[in-house]
Amino acid sequence: MGKDVIVALDFAGAKQVYDFLDRFSGKKPYVKIGMELFYAEGPEIVREIKKRGHQIFLDLKLHDIPNTVKKAMNVLSRLDVDMCNLHCSGTIPMMEAALEGLTREDGSRPILLGVTQLTSTSEEVMQRDLLIDAPIADTICHYARNAKTAGLDGVVCSPLEASLVKEACGKEFFTVTPGIRFADSAKDDQRRIMTPADAKKIGSDYIVVGRPITAAEDPVAAYERCLEEFVG
Ligand code: C5P
Repeated sequence: MGKDVIVALDFAGAKQVYDFLDRFSGKKPYVKIGMELFYAEGPEIVREIKKRGHQIFLDLKLHDIPNTVKKAMNVLSRLDVDMCNLHCSGTIPMMEAALEGLTREDGSRPILLGVTQLTSTSEEVMQRDLLIDAPIADTICHYARNAKTAGLDGVVCSPLEASLVKEACGKEFFTVTPGIRFADSAKDDQRRIMTPADAKKIGSDYIVVGRPITAAEDPVAAYERCLEEFVG
């Protein structure tokens, strides 16, 4: 388990997704489905991509009262996704309920990750808007430790935070890191970035890569370059 490249399918609809995946012929990259695609196409897109043989990270970032999250997670588990996530700010009881809902009768379940502080939230905004009077790095580690206490498998975090999380929660606790760019590719709107090779060095378990693959002239070659740098 672990050490894989997850391709972010940030497309508006099913047709673009299937055209994109068809280019990979026999290869079956691990893919991430986010809110836009899921809300546009519904659970059918998950079933179809599973049928095509891909592993799926369903990135819906749940956050609600424990009972609601438990029931929603139960639905996701029956959809047979491989990885899903929630906001750690929902607190430990919500995370525990999520795990309960996610666990199938045979004891198996998808990987469950927590989102600590979104990378779009700066320390200043966190302190001003959320009234969290602590350095953002401390909040991230605290949320990650809560996730571990609740029994989650890991967190999504920027590659620059991955080492901190590993220090706080141990090597076995997954870090899944977006914000990945090749040394020679555009940064786009990402600010805190790292190459696949450096993400490997700092111990990321999975990297999430969107535009460096989806917008590449040759997406299959870009995907293979990521795999080569990150998995080796
Ligand atoms: O195109 P790019 O490689 O920047 O895409 C990164 C993917 O990871 C997008 O789907 C984005 O929503 C997601 N993501 C992120 N930063 C986070 C959480 C998720 O870039 N903190």
